[in-house]
Amino acid sequence: MLTRPPAVPRHVAIIMDGNGRWAARRGLPRSAGHKAGVDALRRAVKAAADFGIEYLTIYSFSSENWSRPAAEVSFLLELLRRFIRQDVAELHHAGVKIKIVGSRDDLEPGIVSLLNDAERLTRGNSKLNLVVAFNYGSKQEISRAVSAIANRLASGEISAADISPELISQNLDTSGIPDPDLLIRTGGEQRISNFLLWQCAYTEFVFVDEFWPDFSHEIFARALDDFNSRDRRFGGIEAQSA
Ligand code: IPE
Ligand code: IPE
Ligand code: MG
Repeated sequence: MLTRPPAVPRHVAIIMDGNGRWAARRGLPRSAGHKAGVDALRRAVKAAADFGIEYLTIYSFSSENWSRPAAEVSFLLELLRRFIRQDVAELHHAGVKIKIVGSRDDLEPGIVSLLNDAERLTRGNSKLNLVVAFNYGSKQEISRAVSAIANRLASGEISAADISPELISQNLDTSGIPDPDLLIRTGGEQRISNFLLWQCAYTEFVFVDEFWPDFSHEIFARALDDFNSRDRRFGGIEAQSA
């Protein structure tokens, strides 16, 4: 039997969870966990580029995270602002193309322009696509896509028979981005928390117990090994060796 060489997933999505618990274990405020989480994110981006991954999508703030205490929400928004201000030039230099998914309605105009600037500056890059899910909720994203399609239907531009999985995909924030091959969630919880529901139809899930601030090149490599041991059938039958 031929052994296949390990395949690098084209698109890896990460639910960066466990910042608060990482801090609590150390007797620190949750904010310290979020700060350490930014360093882990920098490591993850470098590792993804080293591994030759084409798309890395990270869940940075969910539509539901607004329900946290106001002080924590402000801290997280400030961290995002700082990350974009401090890191975008370096990411640009490293050939990273940034794309933000999620709703920009009702966000502070200052944040919206930072997000737009980051996308504009890096749009010609091709080393790694970094997709940042910010103010993102998958149900909300699907609802916006359905609204956009309904408007085109109402204006007669398309008919009901034109509605297809492809048309729905094209109307999501992730339009043009291949579906994730691998989803990693740190922090030990085994749930999707309103992340990429449509896009993960055939994604492989790897749950790791380590908290996000402890994420490392080694943990990433282990998740890739795990991915490589999976048999992706997509509804068909077991892959045959040629
Ligand atoms: C992930 O860590 C960061 C965000 C959700 C923004 P958490 O803040 O959810 O940390 P835990 O899950 O409470 O430990
Ligand atoms: C998911 O983590 C959101 C992000 C990582 C940004 P949460 O901590 O918000 O998810 P739940 O509440 O445990 O499902
Ligand atoms: Mg959490």
